[in-house]
Amino acid sequence: MKEKNQKEPSIELFVPGRLCLFGEHSDWAGVNKTINADIVLGRAIVTGIEQGIYGRAQKSTLFSVTSSLEACQEASFSCEMDMGKLRETARQGGFFSYVAGVASYMCEWYHIGGMHLEITKMDLPMKSGLSSSAAICVMVAKAFNMLYGLHLNTLGIMNIAYWGEQRTPSRCGRLDQACAFGVSPVSMVFDGNELDVGRITVKRPLYYVFADLMSAKDTVKILADLNSAYPFARDEKADRLHEALGPDNQEITGEAIACILAGDAQKLGELMVRAQTVFDEKVAPMCPEELNAPVLHSVLNDQYIKKLTYGAKGVGSQGDGTVQLLAKDSETQKKLIDYLEKKRGMTAYALTLRPNKQVRKAVIPVAGFGTRLYPETRGVKKEFCPVVDKDGLVKPAILILLEELEAIEIEEICLILSRQERACYEDFFFKPISEAHYSKLSRQMREYETTIRNIAKKLKFVYQEEQKGFGHAVYQAKEFADGEPVLLLLGDTIYASSGSVPCTKQLLDVYEQYGQDMAAVQSIPLADVPHYGIFSGVWENKEETVLKLTQIVEKPDCEKAKDFLAVSTKKNAENYFAAFGAYVITKAVFDRLDEAVRKELVNAKGEVELTDALAYVCTKQGMMAFVPDGKSYDLGNAEAYRRTVSEFGL
Ligand code: UTP
Repeated sequence: MKEKNQKEPSIELFVPGRLCLFGEHSDWAGVNKTINADIVLGRAIVTGIEQGIYGRAQKSTLFSVTSSLEACQEASFSCEMDMGKLRETARQGGFFSYVAGVASYMCEWYHIGGMHLEITKMDLPMKSGLSSSAAICVMVAKAFNMLYGLHLNTLGIMNIAYWGEQRTPSRCGRLDQACAFGVSPVSMVFDGNELDVGRITVKRPLYYVFADLMSAKDTVKILADLNSAYPFARDEKADRLHEALGPDNQEITGEAIACILAGDAQKLGELMVRAQTVFDEKVAPMCPEELNAPVLHSVLNDQYIKKLTYGAKGVGSQGDGTVQLLAKDSETQKKLIDYLEKKRGMTAYALTLRPNKQVRKAVIPVAGFGTRLYPETRGVKKEFCPVVDKDGLVKPAILILLEELEAIEIEEICLILSRQERACYEDFFFKPISEAHYSKLSRQMREYETTIRNIAKKLKFVYQEEQKGFGHAVYQAKEFADGEPVLLLLGDTIYASSGSVPCTKQLLDVYEQYGQDMAAVQSIPLADVPHYGIFSGVWENKEETVLKLTQIVEKPDCEKAKDFLAVSTKKNAENYFAAFGAYVITKAVFDRLDEAVRKELVNAKGEVELTDALAYVCTKQGMMAFVPDGKSYDLGNAEAYRRTVSEFGL
């Protein structure tokens, strides 16, 4: 049997360690709700940290793991993809029990082949309460998911990592696998066996430091003593523990989520202090030997540290294991690390939680000839076709689009033009109308002149010298984007939101939450599938508005779509999602377009396709799709234009 297949493509992986910011111990406490219905839900905020495990995986007939790292005991492991054998390895414990636990689960539930995983780098401190075991379990689940197209969303990966680890002698909590969400905070609710996870959007940077207290704690004893008060509290001390992990924790965690969303670091620090006080008063008495934690408290009460921080508290099971501190800014974050390492002899790490890069720029390619609207496009660009807007004014379609960008405060807009169109665009946006014409306008129309001038201030023109397709047009904006994520819109599509938030703004809000390349999509009938790029994936949220994409296929036939690309929803078993006409794309897409242009990776018509670049980025680093609450109106062909003119703005 061969172990590695040189021809199989490999994937690169990174999984961070995790840090519980609030709500430690409430995960297992919440699970007790299955027996005692009076127990209040557990709730925690957990984030991935900057350190983690790096790996490379490819399909194989065996399940094998190798590592040349000292921290991994420089060992290797290889086993047939056999449920019984893998499960036995998991049961025995030791370094490879975790990976074997997850692989045994995969074997049992998905009947798939094996894989070779090479651990290439690890900068996660071991045995520090930062969950290196959960990280390796998540890595194995993630690798199987990607290699075998198992259609698991992030929560699914988390669950398998959890159940895999349950097959080992080590008992992890339900919050450990939050590392599957990457270096961003998530809120977790533990209701019996149910787990709810939601991302928390970081409004302003939060400069954390966490440090190994270089002392010792007995986690097994802490857990045993605290668990003795569950599921039913039998004395006053136990009552107080229930209070701390129940209503007190609910309140503090709820307020902390609001602080992260609002960017209020000072109040967040105060909540850390409050959480620690509750812990000391109501939790520590259950296990004073371990939880009085003199070293932790000497750090929390250190006057110099207090000056540099908004707040601090213990980590994980607490005790003298690890401390977390919220520094006032990036400067004090560095000073704190320096002080903890040099003066207190501890190992300290920075953890900065940043908002996902905000989208300030938009790109709209309008250089296409518009063959399908011939002969109209001999004279007038399709983007200038008239549409009656909601306010009753007759506008060129492109203006409706630009007005939406003005409303959502996009700062710079790049139009991709062909040279011949330059005069037309310059005249429209920069040439004032004559006094004589102006005087004939109504008040509403005169005010609209100001809107056009404001839009014009944000415009930049870039030229596509040859019309080599949509992807080629987008590529022309690489310099304009300059490494920032941009909102990409089709020049011949306009949007109508069903509510008060414009569709483009809805897309940007979701991007801010997930931080990954994103395509807005809409459901289309199966019969239309062969005309569009089709996006398929698994729902990432309960509302069924965000898809973690597994495949993007350009113009598939109906048979293929039916077999592989349908997405089911609560309402409908079979849905097919096509582009809505709006995307957020990052540097990764521009880099791939660059390669496609240089290597002439083109379709049958000789055009560089955006869909190809998106499909590439989707497999390499993941991509999301979002279903906006609204409709998109196309102007690109006669039938669609007829519908747009008759329905839009009503
Ligand atoms: P389409 O795919 O509709 O192409 O472009 P098109 O050329 O405009 O129209 P047909 O297919 O010939 O009828 C989608 C968007 O991409 C722009 C178009 O202007 C439109 O806004 N585009 C397309 C370019 O900027 N350059 C191109 O080479 C192709």
